[in-house]
Amino acid sequence: MDSVNFIIICVSFSLLSSLAVIIISIPQRRLKRFFEQINFQGEGDEKIPRCIGREQVSKYLVKMRFKSTIPTDRWEKIRGDLELFYNKKICKMEQSRKDIRIMDIYFIEATLPPYIEWQDEFMEDRARFAIGEGYNGKVVWDASNLPHGLIGGATGSGKTGLLRCIIHQAIKKRWNVSVLDFKGGGDFTDVEQEAEKYRDLEDGYGPFIISDPEENRQLLLALTIEVKGRLAAFKEADVSNIEEYNARGREQFVPWLLVVDEAAELLDVKPKDKAEKELYTEIDHYLRTLARLSRAAGVHILMGFIRPSADVLDGQIKNNLLWRVCGYFSDPAASRIVLDNDRATELPPEIKGRFIVRDEEVQAYYMPIQKSAPEE
Ligand SMILES: Nc1ncnc2c1ncn2[C@@H]1O[C@H](COP(=O)(O)OP(=O)(O)OP(=O)(O)O)[C@@H](O)[C@H]1O
Ligand SMILES: [Mg+2]
Repeated sequence: MDSVNFIIICVSFSLLSSLAVIIISIPQRRLKRFFEQINFQGEGDEKIPRCIGREQVSKYLVKMRFKSTIPTDRWEKIRGDLELFYNKKICKMEQSRKDIRIMDIYFIEATLPPYIEWQDEFMEDRARFAIGEGYNGKVVWDASNLPHGLIGGATGSGKTGLLRCIIHQAIKKRWNVSVLDFKGGGDFTDVEQEAEKYRDLEDGYGPFIISDPEENRQLLLALTIEVKGRLAAFKEADVSNIEEYNARGREQFVPWLLVVDEAAELLDVKPKDKAEKELYTEIDHYLRTLARLSRAAGVHILMGFIRPSADVLDGQIKNNLLWRVCGYFSDPAASRIVLDNDRATELPPEIKGRFIVRDEEVQAYYMPIQKSAPEE
């Protein structure tokens, strides 16, 4: 009885495994034929690439691994053919770091959603801000690593929406927040109301939202003095940044987020008279100083621009805005200004809050405008 059972098990096992081989080998054969048809062959024994694995990387991405002796630049050339063969768009292609004869190709299984509502569970700790979702999962701005940012994008692409979401997180973290907003359209009214719950505005460094140029100058002067004071305190305490200083547990410095929405309104002004010229020269000077010095001091600057071209944004400030975010632009030159590549022109213009963040496509979280301040 036992031996009969044993034989049955063995036979079914071998049948199942040969079935599995057939199931696996059919796509392999089709794949081989496909590579042969497009004449995609390398050198050596294994001329035709072979698929050696498939892995679900995130809910949006599947990674397929190919063993081949074909260099990366040739793989890039058959990108379109591969997309048609698999009927899936490719997110990225890269050589495996461990074995350069393995090519990892990331296919898009599901596209990013057009809307993701912000939830406080998305919050990250320390100087990290949750921004949205990319094909690899959650995307975070780590301000301790890339202290200042530049957010570009055509009008209506979602720059202010992203800034509001970051401000909300900064308020929850009890950071000091100042918003320079020259539109005056009430874009930040709800986050201002939220901030009022947490901080004593009388003891702060000025109002939460500033739209008057003179008030703006005063704030930037106060911030510059604050940054220099902090840097002197670090030197005396023999520490190099705010984290180390605060970790000592004596006096604590509060991180500060300075948001400049529509920064062109501040940096690209034609002064009416001498006094105004002096005012804007001073503002420009403080911004440069802050962009250069405030990194270690825990003061972070985010600037929004419709088009941060060289005549609007000085190279010295721009070079310090290392975290780059770009919404849709139809003009490749505009995309290049922010990202140094054309990728922002490939974004779907009809989807709001869709950005290239550094080199990833991201759907930014959106916080619907609150009628009254959100509850904690
Ligand atoms: N992340 C997002 N997800 C979904 N919808 C968004 C998102 N961000 C913005 N929106 C929608 O798009 C509209 C325009 O966004 P927003 O005001 O942020 O654009 P903007 O880039 O600041 O434009 P402008 O340059 O004119 O100030 C918002 O009113 C909102 O309805
Ligand atoms: Mg805006």
